[in-house]
Amino acid sequence: MLPPVARPEVLALRASRIREVANAAWGREGVLTFWFGESDRATPAFIRERAAQALSEGRTFYTHNLGTAELRAALSAYLSGLHGRPIGERRIAVTNSGVSALMIAAQAVVSPGDRVVAVTPVWPNVVEIPRILSAQVEGVALEAAQDSWRLDVGRLLAALTPGTRALFLNSPNNPTGWTLPADDRAAILEHCRKHGIWLVADDVYERIAFGPGRSAPSFLALAEDGDRVIGANSFSKAWRMTGWRLGWLVLPPALLESVGVLLEYNTSCAPDFVQAAAAAALAQGEAHVSELRAELTAARDQVLAGLRAMPGVEAPEPDGGMYAFFRIAGCTDSVALARRLIDEADLGLAPGAAFGPEGEGWLRWCFANRPEKNALGLQRLGRFLTTSTARPPAGGDPN
Ligand SMILES: Cc1ncc(COP(=O)(O)O)c(C=O)c1O
Repeated sequence: MLPPVARPEVLALRASRIREVANAAWGREGVLTFWFGESDRATPAFIRERAAQALSEGRTFYTHNLGTAELRAALSAYLSGLHGRPIGERRIAVTNSGVSALMIAAQAVVSPGDRVVAVTPVWPNVVEIPRILSAQVEGVALEAAQDSWRLDVGRLLAALTPGTRALFLNSPNNPTGWTLPADDRAAILEHCRKHGIWLVADDVYERIAFGPGRSAPSFLALAEDGDRVIGANSFSKAWRMTGWRLGWLVLPPALLESVGVLLEYNTSCAPDFVQAAAAAALAQGEAHVSELRAELTAARDQVLAGLRAMPGVEAPEPDGGMYAFFRIAGCTDSVALARRLIDEADLGLAPGAAFGPEGEGWLRWCFANRPEKNALGLQRLGRFLTTSTARPPAGGDPN
């Protein structure tokens, strides 16, 4: 008899390499950590207070699969304003997190054996979710050009061959901060329209964009109701609500009923009191989002300037998100380097290899922290680089 193990697609999944490094340092005192993608501050008080109030009102029951009428109306108003075109409630489904939004989107449109293309390096869940569903995922790599990241749109379109089922595109991108330029959207959308390819946009960082405007360029500003475009989003980043586990999907209306059914069989619905708090976040949260964006712009500038002042460090500028993705000359094994940084510098960074083979040799620093914490981390990295005995710092044997 075969041993009682999971199916092959699940066995083939790779455990998170961020977790691999973080677990090695678990419980160790004094390690300053920048490896996870979240702010070092709690959710704004007005959101927490609304959740407490909803709980005291007894909002502890199941809701509609697609979310409460209150939250779907609030999302419709918010998204229509943000993207400058009506996005009605019949296009909106509430999910139990951004990652669940991606999973539901994939379950709705990806079948076993389908070919899926993703722009990489990218947060691992974006590529592993279609793999769980037995899809074949192919990456189109961003290029680090001088001081910034860029996507060769011609190369992406060439990879989106007829018969490709879906494109998964995360912009602003985790880990690089690359942000799709507004002018590149139309060509990608047209190509997907022509070949019937689903475009799944991971818009989780859309409000954390350092360019002009309230949001990063979005396909939702161009998509018609009949387009095969899905936006996956979350309350985690822009409203500092990582632990609440709430997100949403924007879909073509023709997909909504099926997504309601999928939600029933995944999680049934998101918690009512969390949805009440999220409606308050949308209604009263703009000042908070602007403040967060200003703080993160300053944090990005601080960390980037600090990294660029160090010998052998290359740090392209992120246009959005909350990460600096950088490399140190000579590093070929980012997991080994991340482990050394824990042991020798009390510094916790995410290894670039966690974001796919294109990320190997790089490190990711989440800069969503108070300036003092970022400054101390920079000091530790600087000291490590100047005192480190074996350069190149990773790969162990320099030969
Ligand atoms: C690119 C990207 N998409 C989606 C998510 C999911 O966010 P959450 O599940 O916390 O809503 C994250 C979280 O780090 C992310 O980086």
